[in-house]
Amino acid sequence: MTTSLNGHHARANHPVLFPSRKHALMRAGAVPQEQIELDTTYGLPISGQGVFAITTQASGPFRIYLTLNKFSFEAVILDIGRHAVKLIRRHANRHEEVLAERANPVNPEEARVAVETDAVRTYWLSLDTQNFTLVYGKGYVTNQFKMLEYRFTDVPTNPQDFWTSEISKVKLSGGVGAVSSHQTLRYPATYPTPPVIAPFATVTMDQVAKDEGIAITQMPPESQVLYGTVGGPAFQLDTPDFPDFAEAINYSIVTPGCICYEKLAEKFADSPFSKDPHENYLRVTLGHSYGDSPGIPYVLELWPMGNFSPIHNHSDAYAVIKVLHGTIWVQVFAEFSTSWPDAANVEYEFPADGVTWLSPQCFQTHRLKNRGDKTMTATIQPGFPR
Ligand SMILES: [Fe+2]
Repeated sequence: MTTSLNGHHARANHPVLFPSRKHALMRAGAVPQEQIELDTTYGLPISGQGVFAITTQASGPFRIYLTLNKFSFEAVILDIGRHAVKLIRRHANRHEEVLAERANPVNPEEARVAVETDAVRTYWLSLDTQNFTLVYGKGYVTNQFKMLEYRFTDVPTNPQDFWTSEISKVKLSGGVGAVSSHQTLRYPATYPTPPVIAPFATVTMDQVAKDEGIAITQMPPESQVLYGTVGGPAFQLDTPDFPDFAEAINYSIVTPGCICYEKLAEKFADSPFSKDPHENYLRVTLGHSYGDSPGIPYVLELWPMGNFSPIHNHSDAYAVIKVLHGTIWVQVFAEFSTSWPDAANVEYEFPADGVTWLSPQCFQTHRLKNRGDKTMTATIQPGFPR
């Protein structure tokens, strides 16, 4: 059972939009498609702020409207055109004022900002009245994947006096297509979501203010639980009774005949897809599995120097990744898709003891690499099994 766009339950995997009378007229060609707002029952959880995201294979240009109520024409409109996107303010007299606009890049290798009818994409619009900001993005709903932004000028001192503070409804029009899913989020995507977890004992006001690290309590509860399993300072490879464990693993990786070296060779030989011997790493499962127990079993991943993973996603799971030894370079992608340009939107390097995280909405699709030339990298990764 899935939930369709109009809030009713539907059995189809791709629910069909509720056909309003205006919609019927539109299909009959009586009214231009782009001028029709479909009947929907979405609401933002908080008036004046939040994100509406829709995952769909669009059939053509379409629009997302954030509106005041059914008695007013005032709205913020995201116009996702064939070749460009626009953020528009519609005034009470229906006049449409283009606030910001961006065209598709000339280079076909770069990500397209406009509509894509040949692929399933997530398009999202963020409204933040407190900061007088609109953001449009594609892919996961984090500010790092924004494609267009507008900050209102000439604004009142108190955001509650601004016209967008009353916005609470979402409508759609045009070629929305076969919708896979949609979501309304409570908090806008005005600022970047830090991929670095700032440990409780060392997090500073400055770090949080500059979005340099996310405080543990700012993460979803699931992520907090996972961090609690590996975040402690004593969770290490080297211990008092085996102080050279990491060095021993490194020796095993680089020495023919040793178990890690031979396992890596075996894994590469068995891989039908990988042609680059550096696209290879070892996964070692630790701990006992108790069904859906969080974090267990843990996955210890061993990365020889210069080795990396393929681009992969985590199937909407929660996980944290702690660097136990060496460094790890992480590239995060806006969406998992064979048609998405092979260019990372976010890149960052983690030192030993650094911890990163991912959730269904953040940092799901990534590639990890040990870019170091001195030693292997070891990471430990608890997650909620699916
Ligand atoms: Fe991963």
